[in-house]
Amino acid sequence: MLRKVALLLVLLTPANLHGETGYNMWLQYAALDDASARRYRDVAPAVVTSFGDAPTIESARQELILGIRGMLGRTLRIESRLPAEAAIVIGTLAELRRAAPQLALAASLEPDGYWPKTVRLNANGYTIITAENDRGVLYGAFALLRKIALGESIADLDQKQTPYAPIRWVNEWDNLDGTIERGYGGRSIFWNNGRVREDLTRVRDYGRLLASLGINGCSINNVNANPLLLSSDMIPQVARIADTFRPWGVRVALAIDFGSPQSVGKLNTYDPLDPAVIAWWKSKADEIYRAVPDFAGFVLKADSEGRVGPSTYNRTHADAANAVARALKPHGGVIFYRGFVYDHHMDWQNLKNDRARAAYDNFHPLDGQFDDNVVIQIKNGPIDFQVREPASPLFGALEKTNQAIELQVTQEYTGQARHLVFLPPMWKETLDLDMRVRDSSTPVKALISGRTFRRPAGGFVGVVNIGLDENWFGNHLSQANLYGFGRLAWDPDLSARQIAEEWTRLSFGDDPKVVETIAGMQISSWRTYENYTGPLGLQTLTDIVGNHYGVAVEASERNGWGQWHRADERGVGMDRTAATGTGFLGQYRPAVGRMYESIATCPDDLILFVHHVPYTHLLHSGKSVIQYIYDSHYEGAEAVSKYVRDWKPLRGRIDDKRYEDVLAQLQYQAGQAVVWRDAVSAWFLRASGIPDAKGRVGHYAGRMEAEAANLTGYVVTTVTPRETASGGKAVECKAARCAAAFRYDGDPGWSEIVVQYFDVNNGAARFRVFIGNQLVDEWTAADRVPSRILDGGSSARRVISGIVLRKGDEIRIEGMPDGGETAALDYVEIHAAGN
Ligand code: GCU
Repeated sequence: MLRKVALLLVLLTPANLHGETGYNMWLQYAALDDASARRYRDVAPAVVTSFGDAPTIESARQELILGIRGMLGRTLRIESRLPAEAAIVIGTLAELRRAAPQLALAASLEPDGYWPKTVRLNANGYTIITAENDRGVLYGAFALLRKIALGESIADLDQKQTPYAPIRWVNEWDNLDGTIERGYGGRSIFWNNGRVREDLTRVRDYGRLLASLGINGCSINNVNANPLLLSSDMIPQVARIADTFRPWGVRVALAIDFGSPQSVGKLNTYDPLDPAVIAWWKSKADEIYRAVPDFAGFVLKADSEGRVGPSTYNRTHADAANAVARALKPHGGVIFYRGFVYDHHMDWQNLKNDRARAAYDNFHPLDGQFDDNVVIQIKNGPIDFQVREPASPLFGALEKTNQAIELQVTQEYTGQARHLVFLPPMWKETLDLDMRVRDSSTPVKALISGRTFRRPAGGFVGVVNIGLDENWFGNHLSQANLYGFGRLAWDPDLSARQIAEEWTRLSFGDDPKVVETIAGMQISSWRTYENYTGPLGLQTLTDIVGNHYGVAVEASERNGWGQWHRADERGVGMDRTAATGTGFLGQYRPAVGRMYESIATCPDDLILFVHHVPYTHLLHSGKSVIQYIYDSHYEGAEAVSKYVRDWKPLRGRIDDKRYEDVLAQLQYQAGQAVVWRDAVSAWFLRASGIPDAKGRVGHYAGRMEAEAANLTGYVVTTVTPRETASGGKAVECKAARCAAAFRYDGDPGWSEIVVQYFDVNNGAARFRVFIGNQLVDEWTAADRVPSRILDGGSSARRVISGIVLRKGDEIRIEGMPDGGETAALDYVEIHAAGN
């Protein structure tokens, strides 16, 4: 009993300790309002009885106690037998049939599925949560708590729940040194300084969050895998993580390096057909399973982006995958072989070359050659997590091979957790696309889950990359993407709106104004981001060869990475047609290929992904391509400033901490959206020579360039790419203190002063703003941005509002550099603020 009390205390602490920091994500278990609490108290039993002693069952019981305590203010009493009063009763079907046959539970359930069932017996009402396996019981407990949190009835339960697919995994791209590839929420919860962390509290709490969504596997290191991971010294450490996850039903997997037999095993080869290599994989797998009996398997990135692979020995991907799969097979393990294989040294001048073809070209010919415990893990689109891509044609091309879809929860190309982008609407478009592999409907979700071709394995993998930040992601609103991933992996038929509303209510409460505002922002955010980054299938127009964050329209061109949009003075877009282009569209089944191939039927949203057209080409909407590019960028930037306006009335309706954090994030995003807007539209104006019909591009009312100001100490510098600074130039301070003075010649009145400056990440410069001799604002440029040079990623905005300006006023900005940061300024813009 003592142990149980201790455990309960441990489980209770996160909520108390972390308050409203976002630590508990959607598991807030906030007290219900009196009326709803009363409704549940009338039906909720006072007792929880559990059968079976698996740690997962114990977690389920403790979670029920914790959740009901939080929401209803009542502590369930623990009983070990079916009591003669109402109770919540949990256990697997087998356990319940054995221990409480009088409940007469007859059902057949899928693994991980669950069955909440109300049984009335001798005047007692039992709320039963049962399942085929322990993990399913845990999922059922979370589902019951979710029902209460969402105000749904728990009085008469009888609805069996089955996960859509057996594989519902996350991948974490964590490095052994504690950094995370494409992670934006702090350092690794798993690793530090080359070892597994001593304190695994965060791993435990992450396991709980994953379990609440029904996620059953987690790969804990970067796909660009460090071979050391398979050294014998590492395996007991990995076992500690597996032990920590186990009570939550999350099985551990590892990303491996294909060269390990040589680098770790000291063989002179890693040829997958070499008997010594085969034996090495086998003995390594045996060693892992001795330490981690429920080890889930491996993830392998081979022959891609500089990783070694079977091509060294002229072997196929099937040879490679099977060699490793056979070592795992006796233990029930699976290998996820990544479909993300392409040549990143392609000749960009050859118009027939196309990176989008690569996954299909590599894997389609091998269909039928992979063992049953190999799963090809395929990114949603044929390129790389861009803001919009069509579904990968490979989904429709594997009939005799297991597949899983890889979705990126971490927002690499979608704003790196500094921009609000809710991804489920994007994922839904892919999952719902009918690939027409048969006459009947065959959406991507049916193909990847193994339903269409009755494959034994298949499902969903999310690349999440959470970190030690208190809110895991570095942005409260980004948590909705993990929630959405988990919910869709369980049930891809849920709508994005339903997911957004559920998440908002669970995370921020039921206030209709809060739900409408936050869910509304979430739902529109992908389109908004696409509008100001890369619309019409252009892909994210970001720094492809650098941080994948700031705007850099040409970064994708004239290099071997193959993310080309081929914009020049005559037109824009990649011709991927079968008729005249790269032939990519020929990789789809004919009905789908034809739809994209014809300009008449190709959706506007993807037109430039598959066709090269002149700027004057008219879209289905009747607008020209160039005008659409201008308009969408203005709409996108305006939508973000509206998010800021919409957010402000939530003050006092949600906790202050998250209110302030999100407000700051949205204000930052509003500034970045303007940088994107101006950069992309200026670039296309220059390329096309066609002016904006609405006269906005190139004309910025109230803007005064820093290079034209009266400068003391500041020197003019050219910014590259030039579209990322207004007029292509900025001013930098190479002394201890510099100043730029602007003369205001506009109408007198209340104004807003926008200061566009640069905030790089290797210094913390100071800025001070004076009107005449009066100091009106000052700040330090120390934001978290992924850039150390003046570019789109470091361009930042300070808005000073509530200032009255008079004709002839001098606005003087003082900059004081620090470290590598030169207190650089781009421009000042004055907006009339009305009253
Ligand atoms: C993207 C990402 C890389 C990652 C790769 C992958 O290209 O930028 O960091 O390694 O995807 O998925 O393997």
